[in-house]
Amino acid sequence: MIKIIKSVKEMANFANRIKGRGHTIALVPTMGALHEGHLSLVEAAHNKANIVVVSIYVNPTQFAPNEDFNKYPRTLLKDKTALRHFEHITIFAPSDKELYPDTFDTWVEEGTISKKLCGKFRFGHFKGVTTILSKLFNVVRPDFAFFGEKDYQQQLIVKKLVKDLNYPIDVIICPTIREYDGLAMSSRNKYLSPKERKAAAVLYKTLIRAKKDLEGGETDYRRIIVGLSRLIGFEPLIRIDYITIVNPDTLIEIKEIKKEKVLVALAARVGKTRLIDSMIVQPK
Ligand code: PAF
Repeated sequence: MIKIIKSVKEMANFANRIKGRGHTIALVPTMGALHEGHLSLVEAAHNKANIVVVSIYVNPTQFAPNEDFNKYPRTLLKDKTALRHFEHITIFAPSDKELYPDTFDTWVEEGTISKKLCGKFRFGHFKGVTTILSKLFNVVRPDFAFFGEKDYQQQLIVKKLVKDLNYPIDVIICPTIREYDGLAMSSRNKYLSPKERKAAAVLYKTLIRAKKDLEGGETDYRRIIVGLSRLIGFEPLIRIDYITIVNPDTLIEIKEIKKEKVLVALAARVGKTRLIDSMIVQPK
């Protein structure tokens, strides 16, 4: 039987009891609408700790006013069913009222990496993410926290948050899980119409093309990006927010490709749905 805890107090008491017995807790923070990508995190968490807490909370503070907060899928019972094969799972599904009472006004903000890539398009997004994660870390007190590499910028920011605020948490990053045609799994894929879903496959094809260019010895940033933008440009349903090659630690653009690993990162709108993807590449 999977336990669902809705109250912050109950979650904190549960965590205290678990830790008092000398057991470890792994936290898998999610916004629900669980897919194979989330389940791979739960599986990894399950192998690492005695108890896995999957938090399911669509965090309002990480959505800008023009974004999809209202239509974001909320499927708690389905999510519970998706987790039924795992043992020692607890779902933490708190309410907005408890996490953000009217008087709430204390924020946690990372100041450097958050300003790059998606930070330029999603105003306040990462401040919302670091704030809710700080709250979840304080209540659940996990020994381990699991995140997907798919949200590459997010996982860098989480590592920085944990380091800067001295959380005694081991942050573990798991590989991106992809659909049959390479599209990175995301709860937002549910928004895509059949035509958009088909078109979205070009995002992964673009990353593969970048990998080929870089491994083939191309060192000119502009030439690579022009080629990739053209490839995406063939899909009339897609508009690019950004496509870039950056340092995987700092997210600073690399104009002249050398021998060090790079991150190829992109964000695009497929119809009204904003999707992101990225790939680490070792240039030859
Ligand atoms: O990646 C997500 O689903 C969210 O940003 C997270 C980490 C659960 C915070 O709300």
